[in-house]
Amino acid sequence: MPSLPSLHLTTDALGDLDVDALIVPVFRGAIEGPGADVALRALGLDQVPRDEHFRGRPGEILTLAAPDQPWGQVVLVGLGRLDALSDEQVRRAAGSAVRSVAERCRTVATTLPEVKVSTATIRAAAEGALLGAYRYDQARSQPEPLVLTDVTLVVPSSLAGRAAPEVERARVHAEAQCLARDLVTTPPNRLGPVELAQAARELLPADVEVEVWDEQRLADEGCGGLLAVARGSARPPRLVRLRYRPANPVAHVSLVGKGITFDTGGISLKRPSSIMEEMKGDMAGAAVVLAAFGALGALGVPVAVSGELCLAENMPGADAQRPSDVITIRNGTTVEVLNTDAEGRLVLADGLSLAAEDDDVDAIVDVATLTGAVFRAIGKRATGVFSNDDDLLRQLLAAADDAGEAMWHLPLWDDLRDNLDSTVADLDNLGRGDEAGATMGGLFLREFVDGTPWAHLDIAGPFWQDEDRYHLPRHGTGVGVRTLLRWLEPRRD
Ligand code: BES
Ligand code: MN
Ligand code: ZN
Repeated sequence: MPSLPSLHLTTDALGDLDVDALIVPVFRGAIEGPGADVALRALGLDQVPRDEHFRGRPGEILTLAAPDQPWGQVVLVGLGRLDALSDEQVRRAAGSAVRSVAERCRTVATTLPEVKVSTATIRAAAEGALLGAYRYDQARSQPEPLVLTDVTLVVPSSLAGRAAPEVERARVHAEAQCLARDLVTTPPNRLGPVELAQAARELLPADVEVEVWDEQRLADEGCGGLLAVARGSARPPRLVRLRYRPANPVAHVSLVGKGITFDTGGISLKRPSSIMEEMKGDMAGAAVVLAAFGALGALGVPVAVSGELCLAENMPGADAQRPSDVITIRNGTTVEVLNTDAEGRLVLADGLSLAAEDDDVDAIVDVATLTGAVFRAIGKRATGVFSNDDDLLRQLLAAADDAGEAMWHLPLWDDLRDNLDSTVADLDNLGRGDEAGATMGGLFLREFVDGTPWAHLDIAGPFWQDEDRYHLPRHGTGVGVRTLLRWLEPRRD
């Protein structure tokens, strides 16, 4: 499990804080933000210093030395415009500021905006701070852990009592997200299907039952999608079945994750090969589901949750599946594999079929880095959501909004369903024509849910970043974890 700094709450006066850095958010236009007056006065300044690079835009940082103060330095961080203030802006500012000091400061404190502050704002600040204080360093011979150990949030006394449980929830969400990041960023030679299944066994708490199907069991159970994709790899596939069963559950949902531990494209090899390295993260959907399971008990989730992690490596080995092979999915559907690089939908077809077999399931949600088309349509920062159920769709969009994770509804045009008809089998895995690629992926998956309310989250855009951005350090982002947890955790309003 990733080790994040400890979080503390205080209502103390700023002058009484003994920390290596004091973070002070400032609105755009250098309008004094919360605590800025106190901090600036202490520095002998009567306004935010003019600096050509610092305007208080979201995430901007200006570090000021504070030699005579209990804090070693004051870090001003931009919050953006006062009239556009949102909890996500607070999350981003906290993440940017903490990230900027985490390599050199052991302890930091941060103030919060004084306008529109709620317990949700405090939670957002806590999440941002923890999520920004993350770095993947498990592949270095000399690990360089971050220096930061303690983050203190300075909260208004009116909210202090109610803030503690919010901060605890923030910690659970952030730890889960960072676990997903670790898994996504781990090099693929260290994390194949077998290792990822083992990680589920080792990392999940005792309230999650873990069952692993090996290649023999997959064959006995008719999981032809997983077996076909794995054929080109020396590494066998795995299906990990997760079960979380609280007492007297109010509902039952199933989460299905795409877990391609590396996607070369198979015989339909990806080109150019320079874009291939990101494909170590093609198991991000499975990582997100796995990590969410780790947090259910701690959040007191009152819903029974089942999980299916569909794990395989997509390689072009001598025994690899060929374009034009016909395979049989768990639910009996035959699929002509026209492009071996459309492998995610093949392994998910088995996982969704299994999830839909349970008559007791109220909703199925799959998470997958499914198509390049989704980020060509809506950009790299947003998740595309497809659904056959308006109510489920609304719930997920609300959860994503609450988590600050951009999500956009995309269509499942019934008119395009015919494009999936194969000339020799029930379906092909491509959908003729090159149009609406993300929708074709969704339409293909819909064939396997047997009418159960279902949503498909295509995270092929936001699962990865090459650059640091706010509370999201570069590499695997763990996007999707907090949305799923927001959706499942007990309502408190
Ligand atoms: N894993 C890829 C999709 C992907 C691409 C995720 C880039 C993240 C970044 C998926 O398996 C794939 O190759 N999809 C194909 C589908 C096509 C062959 C129908 C694609 O998007 O090109
Ligand atoms: Mn692919
Ligand atoms: Zn893939």
